[in-house]
Amino acid sequence: MADYFVQNSVAVIQLNNPPVNSLGSKVRTAIYENVQKANRDPAVKGVVLVGKGRNFCAGADIKEFDGGNKGAWITDIGTYMDNMRKPVVAAIEGVALGGGLEVAMFCHYRIATSSARVGQPEVAIGLIPGGGGTVRLPRAVGLKNALDIIVTGRHVSAGAAAKMGLINKIVSGNILEEGIKFALSKAHIDTSIVCLRNRSVDIGNIDQIAEAEMARVKNKYRGFMAPVFCVKAVVENCRLPYEKAIDNENKIFMDLRSSNQSKALRYAFFAERQISRWELPSGGNYKTTKPMPVRTAGVIGAGTMGGGIALCLITSGIPCVLVEQNKEFLDKGLELMKSQLMMTVKLGKMTSDQAMKCWDTLKPSVLLEDMKTVDLVIEAVFEDLKLKRDIFEKLDKICKPETLLCTNTSTLDIDSIATATKRQDKVVGTHFFAPSYIMKLLENIYGTHTSAETVATVMNLGKRIKKVSVLVGSCTGFVANRMSGPYSQEGTFCIEEGSTPAEIDRALKDFGMAMGKYEVQDLSGVDVGYRIRREAARKEGVELTPETRFFRGERNCSLVERLVEKGRLGKKVGKGWYKYDSPSGKVAHVDPEVTEIIEEHCRALGIQRRNIGIKEVMERMQFALINEGFKILEEGKCRMAEEIDVIWLYGFAWPRYMGGPMYFASQVGLKKIYERVCYYHKKYPYSYHWVPSSLLAKLSESGLPLSQWGEAARGSKL
Ligand code: COA
Repeated sequence: MADYFVQNSVAVIQLNNPPVNSLGSKVRTAIYENVQKANRDPAVKGVVLVGKGRNFCAGADIKEFDGGNKGAWITDIGTYMDNMRKPVVAAIEGVALGGGLEVAMFCHYRIATSSARVGQPEVAIGLIPGGGGTVRLPRAVGLKNALDIIVTGRHVSAGAAAKMGLINKIVSGNILEEGIKFALSKAHIDTSIVCLRNRSVDIGNIDQIAEAEMARVKNKYRGFMAPVFCVKAVVENCRLPYEKAIDNENKIFMDLRSSNQSKALRYAFFAERQISRWELPSGGNYKTTKPMPVRTAGVIGAGTMGGGIALCLITSGIPCVLVEQNKEFLDKGLELMKSQLMMTVKLGKMTSDQAMKCWDTLKPSVLLEDMKTVDLVIEAVFEDLKLKRDIFEKLDKICKPETLLCTNTSTLDIDSIATATKRQDKVVGTHFFAPSYIMKLLENIYGTHTSAETVATVMNLGKRIKKVSVLVGSCTGFVANRMSGPYSQEGTFCIEEGSTPAEIDRALKDFGMAMGKYEVQDLSGVDVGYRIRREAARKEGVELTPETRFFRGERNCSLVERLVEKGRLGKKVGKGWYKYDSPSGKVAHVDPEVTEIIEEHCRALGIQRRNIGIKEVMERMQFALINEGFKILEEGKCRMAEEIDVIWLYGFAWPRYMGGPMYFASQVGLKKIYERVCYYHKKYPYSYHWVPSSLLAKLSESGLPLSQWGEAARGSKL
């Protein structure tokens, strides 16, 4: 857990808890025992704390937070080190985060390599620092810097930390050797002078700073508890004497640790890591399969999706051929891409020099033949099966035999596209979310014949272009759109039955969603889903109209048809579910004309409107999508609930402090959800999404928590 040896009269305590040297109880105890040992040894002149492997320490072991408190208490280690007269040096390589930075701040000195990063990221898992961070960091870097680091949880480079006074020296040699040298050079200095505990904080106009920061944080992190408590703790602790401040921090930390928000955020932390452990039902997984090299890529379609995808590639160092059907469309796409790239520069995420270098790796073209040398192609044309099949057939002939062919479809079955080629094993879905350059989610979809190597390659590509990749099986709408279908439909049925778009959006935002459902629809275009549905119906010989109550035997939501027919296509025309001062206007105003349209629609269809409570609306929208999530699990389209939750966190901005819809379902109680789904199924027999999932039924009956449901449970335990 922590190795101990003496070198050149310096005791070395080397944290040894792979993979990231997290501070589990055994590690804390080992540090405590070893500093005491070093202190007692008269031959030891100084102490170096260093990490084994690539990192100093990633902080507390988050997995231990659900259990009780074991091992040495972290701040007791700090108190012991404060009183040591031998210099203790933290020698930091990789990261010193959370408790890792706090241990470094117990030390009298901190040195680091230039690539090292430090930070207090506890806020991301719903906590404040709990090992003295809110007390020592302001003493090291001042009130304002400490507030910034603790509230944002951001990683600070060693160079920036040195400028703030947190790091004493940046070193370039071997970190351990440098640490030993540094400790010896300080052996004669009184440690009490440099001990952070003994420093005071210049609180200056603390009331003003606190008030401004609190207001900013409440607005920026709406709904999140931890950032507010970070401000509270730092400000209060700057005013309290050390011991009292530590007690205050401890109390707030413990309260937050047992809060539902922190539990959900911890779940989300591990869920994000778990989803990279993919496995194909046909064999092959993340461990056994190597990705193919992708040195160059191609994108077909320079529209908003294709252009965004091409930007993701070139800004991640993957040269890209971008093909459009004609020069006019190509130029239009390039113009938009350039403005997006310039925005990246404006936001300080890249220099204009770097942007220009990326731009030079883009090869725009109107010839599909230019795809002949690339390692992977992503097709991003209209959602039209025939068009996509034509393109894949041509690509199959043009591209190298080993080239992967990916389709950015949001709904179409992968096999129906793959069969247009003679390389079905190399065809895979890569569903990006709009705007594709910005949105982090990448839903990768395997077809019946997609090989493990193909999956490994697109999962790895996702990582390279800094997306969060989730692997799912093929079905209509895949996971994201399949689940958002019932969610949207229930919302709109509720409007027909008596609610309003503004009421629903308000409730969703109060729940924590970043935007309301109808604000989002206005942004993406009210006509988008309408056109897809209308086209699909037409192929079946059905003409959808505002009077169509049933389609495919199911209750049809035709209110959208009426809106589109009135020219309310969304924000792009200044009116949709709301009205806007202009297509670029930021404020969505409630429009009495929409209320009239809804009422007229209901009169025409004989729908009796009623006083529908918002509780019912939320229940119907959320439980309908959760029921669909369980169907996805029972069909094996996802392997674990975490995959669904991550899709909702990143694809639909589900509030992270609610974990995701499947985690939320577990908190509500599967029995309750099942009973309500059955109730709505009885009440609305013509909405197929209310047919209860058999997995939900089994879990509700058996009481087995969703967290324990997995590969094994699916077959045998149920
Ligand atoms: N406690 C427990 N496990 C941790 C951990 C921690 N503090 N930090 C990382 N891990 C685990 C991860 O779950 C992962 O486990 P897995 O391989 O079984 O999935 C493994 O360590 C590697 O982490 P990962 O995030 O995949 O590696 P990375 O190199 O991309 O990032 C860090 C490394 C340290 C930057 C990142 O893990 C991190 O930010 N950790 C959390 C730090 C934190 O919040 N500390 C404060 C805790 S209160």
